[in-house]
Amino acid sequence: MMIKKLLITIDGPAGSGKSTASKALARELSYLYLDTGALYRAIASKVIKEKKNPDDEQAMQDLTNSLNLRLEAECGVLRIILDNEDITDHLRTEEVGLMASKVSSLPRIREVLLPIQQKFGCCGGIVAEGRDMGTVVFPNADLKFFLHATVSERAMRRHRELIEAGLPSQLEIVESKMELRDRQDTERSIAPLKIPADAVVIDSTALAFEEVVAAMLNAVKFLLS
Ligand code: DC
Repeated sequence: MMIKKLLITIDGPAGSGKSTASKALARELSYLYLDTGALYRAIASKVIKEKKNPDDEQAMQDLTNSLNLRLEAECGVLRIILDNEDITDHLRTEEVGLMASKVSSLPRIREVLLPIQQKFGCCGGIVAEGRDMGTVVFPNADLKFFLHATVSERAMRRHRELIEAGLPSQLEIVESKMELRDRQDTERSIAPLKIPADAVVIDSTALAFEEVVAAMLNAVKFLLS
């Protein structure tokens, strides 16, 4: 029997555990994993590297027009290639995350990234994570999740990650940056972060990562049964 390959979306705020859960779910199902935040981060890293001002409309227009960005599938994960260089593993800093949140409010940037993301959703067999997966990029997805947690819990998780990575971190600063990012992502006029009407909502505040993935897998099995 042919088993349908689903298009699954996972949206949620920073630090909600989306990335870890999305990767694990994709691995369990042998699906492709699409991290759309990495696309916004790639543009942000270029803005930082070229010392561009994200509020300078002309500078951002020039940067978008000359953008050489593509995705390449490798072992079930999509790698981000910017200016012919694989930068996937250099995008996870707080500085890049905050700048990504800023540039993601620019309509032209969202417009340019839309077809790059949609190209990978055409045939199913994909777990796509971001902020507008279920609302804008893949409104007809087979299964949509919205993963959230309290801001204090999300900040604590990020703080622990930074400490474990041997990086300096102060919980109050991490939390205030997270609140700023939440505000930018939910209050922007174009494709703001919001719960898709038909999403399965999971509050991960008191859940272990394995419990989140198990809940997602149950929803997948239910849909395929
Ligand atoms: O998921 P992330 O932390 O890597 O995302 C970085 C920023 O990119 C996030 O603060 C908002 C933006 N983003 C977006 O606007 N739409 C998406 N689908 C994914 C990310």
